Amino acid sequence: MNAIIVYQSAYGHVKQMAESVEKGLKESGVEVNLSVASETNPDDILKYDAVLLGSPVRMGSIGDEMKAFLDKTGRIWMNSAAKNKIAGVFVSGGGFASGIELTQISLYSTLLELGMVMVGFVNDMPGYGKGANQWGPFAQVGNEGKDGPNEECLTACYEYGKRLAWAIQKMSK
Ligand SMILES: Cc1cc2nc3c(=O)[nH]c(=O)nc-3n(C[C@H](O)[C@H](O)[C@H](O)COP(=O)(O)O)c2cc1C
Repeated sequence: MNAIIVYQSAYGHVKQMAESVEKGLKESGVEVNLSVASETNPDDILKYDAVLLGSPVRMGSIGDEMKAFLDKTGRIWMNSAAKNKIAGVFVSGGGFASGIELTQISLYSTLLELGMVMVGFVNDMPGYGKGANQWGPFAQVGNEGKDGPNEECLTACYEYGKRLAWAIQKMSK
């Protein structure tokens, strides 16, 4: 079982989230490749059972480098080549109600278009509420990034990694 985590992170918050998701996955027996969006060849995702995306909120939606990465998956879409891969998302925003949910849903929109199987976050999991909603883990890092990601968020990322590992295992049976 393996997974690629593609992320964009200018100030390290999304990277920190990615590392917590990675920890949850690895402890559950999944090999993980952490990969910066601007340096990731879209065809690389075909080598993995799961594709996880971590993005900052930029101007209310997906970060520019993540969007550029997703825009390059057109050929994969044409061939339905990423069909049935497990997918999930996590997002970091500066504030409350300033684009986190929209960014989560926008990321899912592309992953669904590619035929992947979405894994969300359940309300009985540690971190739900302050560190995650039904779409997945989120950070609210505040102005200048001083506030986070908080403990609940990193817990949610770790738990999300474990849930994703469970889903990968189910799908590969
Ligand atoms: C150009 C720019 C635009 C941003 N726009 C938003 C925004 O619309 N909403 C929001 O909540 N945060 C916004 N932010 C804050 C980023 O989401 C925050 O810096 C990011 O989550 C930190 O993650 P990182 O350290 O991994 O880059 C913006 C930041 C930058 C640099």
